[in-house]
Amino acid sequence: MNFWRTLPQPIVGLSPMDGVTDAACRRITARYGPPDVMMTEFTHVEGISRAIPSVLRHLEYDAGERPIVAQVFGSEPEAFHRIAHVVGALGFDGLDINMGCPDKNVAAHGCGAGLIKTPDLAQAIVRAAQAGARDWADGRPLSDVGLPEETVEAVTRMARRLGAADRPRRLLPVSVKTRLGYDRVAVESWIGRLLETEPAVISIHGRTHAQRYQGEADWDAIGRAAGIVRGTGTLLLGNGDLGSPADVVRRVRRYPVHGVLIGRGALGNPWFFRANAAIRAACADPTTPPPDPPRVELAERWRVALEHAALFDRLRGPIPFTVMRKHLGWYAKGREDQPGIRARLVQARELADVEHLLADSLAIETAACG
Ligand SMILES: Cc1cc2nc3c(=O)[nH]c(=O)nc-3n(C[C@H](O)[C@H](O)[C@H](O)COP(=O)(O)O)c2cc1C
Repeated sequence: MNFWRTLPQPIVGLSPMDGVTDAACRRITARYGPPDVMMTEFTHVEGISRAIPSVLRHLEYDAGERPIVAQVFGSEPEAFHRIAHVVGALGFDGLDINMGCPDKNVAAHGCGAGLIKTPDLAQAIVRAAQAGARDWADGRPLSDVGLPEETVEAVTRMARRLGAADRPRRLLPVSVKTRLGYDRVAVESWIGRLLETEPAVISIHGRTHAQRYQGEADWDAIGRAAGIVRGTGTLLLGNGDLGSPADVVRRVRRYPVHGVLIGRGALGNPWFFRANAAIRAACADPTTPPPDPPRVELAERWRVALEHAALFDRLRGPIPFTVMRKHLGWYAKGREDQPGIRARLVQARELADVEHLLADSLAIETAACG
């Protein structure tokens, strides 16, 4: 069963963000959202093939994050065939191929958004991943796909730890996340080529590779992509600049997308997705007003920030605690009523610093209220 087809529409999912939507961030978002679907940070297929520990870490997840999709990138079709087996063995619900990353270390090597320039190769990659997903579902052993023995062992151990070893094999839906074009909007040709491979989903960020993150997401172009996809077996998710539930309602009412992905709008804001049911109600009935952003009291905000920091600390392995600072800054964003707290949080060196800062802030707030 393709899980994407079981999700309520419009689907409102968490967009993958490298260095941001790690296991701790996703677990917190699942607890206080949850989004309808989540993806891992993008993960290099070669790094997975070689079982590089820092790369495999990207594929750690918890059952509470389901449905959870592994997002991978690379440029060799063969590697995607192998990696579909790994992703299946680790118990993911889907496999997403990154064809949107504009970073020069990625795109200049023909991966990520670089694939928009080579649609034949992009198609070969999707088809190889789909063939790998089919072979996995048909019972092909992990040891039979050309992976090094150490990788088979590492993945088997990891699957046991994740509780995935005994899951029945299923056909993994293969999806693609991409942009509007390479150096110009080329929705008609590019989305047309992707559709020929019949992916389960195409998620499209409304900017070109050349734009990186500049300018505004072009929702008219996303709408044209959605028009091309309608009536095929593929779902289309629009993405870009959706900062509030009302933004989602406005776009979904206007453009025929099956759903959206929220990236920066969910930073320090796992509560965004609490509005999903109200978003769907407002999309189904144009007389229903769009929902307000979920209200979050300061104490709840700080409690979740601290819970996130503690979870990050527990799961971080060799990654320094300071990587958590940006999340703390996002939790504090917009709290002008708490002068100085943001500047201090983004200098936290360890979990104890966060505990002290937030406890002090709450004590001041309580004193001010009383
Ligand atoms: C810090 C950062 C990291 C990102 N990493 C990824 C990634 O690993 N995979 C991916 O498909 N997109 C990645 N993106 C793109 C986002 O998923 C999303 O497409 C983009 O931010 C536009 O959506 P937004 O306006 O809602 O943020 C990243 C974006 C940011 C800001």
